[in-house]
Amino acid sequence: MKKKFFAIIGNPLSHSLSPLLHNFWFKKHNISAEYFNLEIKLEEIEGIIKRIRKNDLQGINVTIPYKQAVIPFLDLIVGDAKETLSVNTIRLNEEGKVVGDNTDVYGLEQGFINKLKSQNLEQNKVLILGAGGVTPSVIYALSKKGVKQIFISNRTIEKAIEIKKRFSFIEIVEWKSIEAKAESMDILINATSLGLKGGDDFDQEFKITKPNLVYYDVVYNPKETVIIKKFKKRNIQTLNGLEMFVYQGQKSFSLWNKIKPELDEELRQTIISKLQ
Ligand code: ATR
Repeated sequence: MKKKFFAIIGNPLSHSLSPLLHNFWFKKHNISAEYFNLEIKLEEIEGIIKRIRKNDLQGINVTIPYKQAVIPFLDLIVGDAKETLSVNTIRLNEEGKVVGDNTDVYGLEQGFINKLKSQNLEQNKVLILGAGGVTPSVIYALSKKGVKQIFISNRTIEKAIEIKKRFSFIEIVEWKSIEAKAESMDILINATSLGLKGGDDFDQEFKITKPNLVYYDVVYNPKETVIIKKFKKRNIQTLNGLEMFVYQGQKSFSLWNKIKPELDEELRQTIISKLQ
């Protein structure tokens, strides 16, 4: 069989462990394929997607900051990409159409929401920090579970306003008020890039919270961000983005290869060994 090629596009990409994840599964399943990082500029998107159309590339994952920017170059968007307008998985379908899908919502459901022990998730108050590429998926995954009180804040408020146009039920909180707002929350979610390996972290301390607050961070590299360490010290329950990452990868892999790869300890250890 002809060797297959896959890539993740984004910028910057230095933190991505997607190649490690997919190449691990290719090896395990004896698939002749290679998955690599493609750090590209905005104007290169069109050319990369053409390679899918020509079947030179068999699949693309999309990350920061292109999850929405790829959409004009696709023939159709399906699944959770329709509601979120956020595409992270691209493939050529049986009819020769370039299709954009979203596996982040599945990743959030399996890797975060279904792990919550809360009996009455629907009544929970959730504050989402950030209005970047992953935020629509977070809002959509929560609202699918019946969560009604969703607050969102972003340093640049215009981007939060843009998201509210699609999800009118959310409430916008000013960035300067996030610490005060967090005091009454059941779930606090970091969907910004703050805390990411080599980058800035939160200035805020979030010292006053409900004792049973759950802090969820989409960041998985490093395994423990500065803010996670602070919450842990105060016995606040925290979860990082590692499980979301492996589940979104599992669904992308299934869409491309028609095989649902296993999420076993060996895989998790392989990834964890690469984290800070
Ligand atoms: P994009 O904004 O291009 O979609 P992203 O990485 O998906 O890229 O989003 C990054 C998120 O982290 C944004 O919400 C960003 O806030 P801005 O919209 O104000 O840029 C947030 N972010 C990044 N650095 C930040 C910082 N130092 N303080 C607060 N928020 C930050």
